[in-house]
Amino acid sequence: MELLQAIKERRTIRRFKPDPVPRELIEQLIHGAMWAPSAMNEQPWKFYVLTGAAKADLANIAEGCIEKLDLRMQKLFNEKMRTMVRGYFKDFGGAPAVLVVVTKMPEERVYQRGSEYGSSAAMQNFLLLAHEAGLGACWMTGPLWVEDAVLEYLGCPERGLIGITPIGWPDQTPPTPPRKHQDIEWRE
Ligand SMILES: Cc1cc2nc3c(=O)[nH]c(=O)nc-3n(C[C@H](O)[C@H](O)[C@H](O)COP(=O)(O)O)c2cc1C
Repeated sequence: MELLQAIKERRTIRRFKPDPVPRELIEQLIHGAMWAPSAMNEQPWKFYVLTGAAKADLANIAEGCIEKLDLRMQKLFNEKMRTMVRGYFKDFGGAPAVLVVVTKMPEERVYQRGSEYGSSAAMQNFLLLAHEAGLGACWMTGPLWVEDAVLEYLGCPERGLIGITPIGWPDQTPPTPPRKHQDIEWRE
């Protein structure tokens, strides 16, 4: 698949078929994702893959952010969309696996940001590779509202949460959201 085609055609998927995704495939995608650039080449990411009871535990924790998210969604989305998002937090759209990406957290904020950006680049790599493999995924930062609880559950409270990403075989074909603006400014 051409890179630009993969970038343009990747969509956020929120409904999945129940079929499992082979462990080797997920590991292969993660190993590819780890080729992301990172500040001072720290490679600050860590990847957790949760299935079964661990995935259900995570959904229980993630649901804790719904009230907070709803406050913002009321400003942005209609009721149908809000109901969909609320339901999504309960079962991750039936995804058979959930990827959680966490990052190192250096003491100074400026280095924390570098760490977050590198691990976010790894997450985007993962999304593109998953798309190329025919998988769907949804990078979620809504659970940042319950970041401490997620990190505590994973046993890495000293890290930062980059996102929770349900993955699986897509059971929907969402429309392509148009680009909102072309915010490019050249100066000489
Ligand atoms: C950093 C980031 C955080 C996101 N958080 C959420 C989330 O918490 N819940 C969700 O349903 N989608 C989330 N999304 C998915 C966006 O809603 C989606 O990318 C956007 O609507 C554009 O759709 P597309 O990915 O199909 O192009 C997130 C995406 C990104 C990049």
